[in-house]
Amino acid sequence: MRILLLGSGGREHALAWKIAQSPRIDHLYIAPGNPGTAEVGENVPIEVNDFDRLKVFAVANNIDMVVVGPEDPLVNGIRDAFKNDPQTAHITVIGPSKSGARLEGSKQFAKAFMQRHGIPTAKHRTFNSQTLDEGRTFLASLTAPYVLKADGLCAGKGVLILPTLAEAQAELGKMLSGKFGDASAQVVVEEFLDGIECSVFVLTDGRHYQILPEAKDYKRIGEHDTGLNTGGMGSVSPVTFATKEWLQQVEERIIRPTIDGLAEEKIDYRGFIFFGLINVKGNPMVIEYNCRMGDPETESVMLRLKSDIVDLFEGIAQGDLDRRKVVFDHRAAVSVMLVSGGYPQQYTKGYPITGLDGAGDSIVFHSGTVVKDGRLVTNGGRVLAISSYGKDKDEALKKSFSVAEKIDFEGKYFRGDIGKDL
Ligand code: AMP
Ligand code: GLY
Repeated sequence: MRILLLGSGGREHALAWKIAQSPRIDHLYIAPGNPGTAEVGENVPIEVNDFDRLKVFAVANNIDMVVVGPEDPLVNGIRDAFKNDPQTAHITVIGPSKSGARLEGSKQFAKAFMQRHGIPTAKHRTFNSQTLDEGRTFLASLTAPYVLKADGLCAGKGVLILPTLAEAQAELGKMLSGKFGDASAQVVVEEFLDGIECSVFVLTDGRHYQILPEAKDYKRIGEHDTGLNTGGMGSVSPVTFATKEWLQQVEERIIRPTIDGLAEEKIDYRGFIFFGLINVKGNPMVIEYNCRMGDPETESVMLRLKSDIVDLFEGIAQGDLDRRKVVFDHRAAVSVMLVSGGYPQQYTKGYPITGLDGAGDSIVFHSGTVVKDGRLVTNGGRVLAISSYGKDKDEALKKSFSVAEKIDFEGKYFRGDIGKDL
């Protein structure tokens, strides 16, 4: 099997690490990849949205399967682009069609889909510039805090939670007059849900599904969940409050109706679904769907997946995912993100990274690194994800924190409280 994996972050390094362990792999390419993925496969300098060049590469290199890491190419229709071209139609794409990727690409579509299929989520309404006044009135009918979501993709920045009605009403006006460009031409206003969050991941072939290990991520930059939102500062799997009973409710009320709903609406969906859930007084509700794996959740979830991931991908290709086996590692896995000083606001790139040889049995996934003049240097806000196993999360965290101290670059920062709330 010859696989082309798309993306260049920590999620993709973790996916590449897992895919490379499969006995079915003949060759793994990663486009564009990073210095970490280059350790387990061959990087190819093509951007994830350059479908024409990706197709030419895939044909020339006899690629059997394309695994899509980030949401962007999915929302832009990479599955459809491969399927509709006779040269590439035989290649399996792990990732939904453009239509399926609307679960992430349009908050309004996702909310309406959940409503159609009775999937528990926050009460909401959608507004545009013509219905701004109604939006303000709807806000006044809710209680603080107020949740505003740009309909389209905003690289994780399109959700605002505002403490007062006046701020929420003002912000709705700004969003509808182009604060996030076209992405906020429509804004979903929804009820605030109070609870603890958990990410659940599923692989589906469009009819059957397999549930992967769940994880919790830590979105805020500061300890004790303070400060600005980031792409994610760390992750832990398993999640203590996600008991067997709770996960059973998730499966019955959320996962199954989602898979059945997609099939019923004849939406071509074959790939990952990321359920961003919140536990409201014991009841799981959906905060968001994503059409891909999470980052940095993948950096702990891949450690806990014992099964051959390529076998699961083949189950998607052949439509018999129900007959494939998903086995979880009984150990806990965590990932602690080392980030650049200043992130998620301004930061400097290009600082040399030292101490990588002190990682012990932790696995260091590269997120934002690059090799310059023969040296590994920082190249992003999130730089390295330090993943470890342990008999429990505390043992795993101890290992990751110890490695986080040893690896160094100017301005290095990490959250020392990952997993401590569980
Ligand atoms: P989203 O991009 O939809 O995941 O939203 C980003 C973050 O905003 C989520 O991970 C939650 O922490 C928070 N959030 C979104 N919607 C709500 C809601 N209805 N109630 C409370 N928090 C929310
Ligand atoms: N960790 C959250 C995300 O990947 O969207």
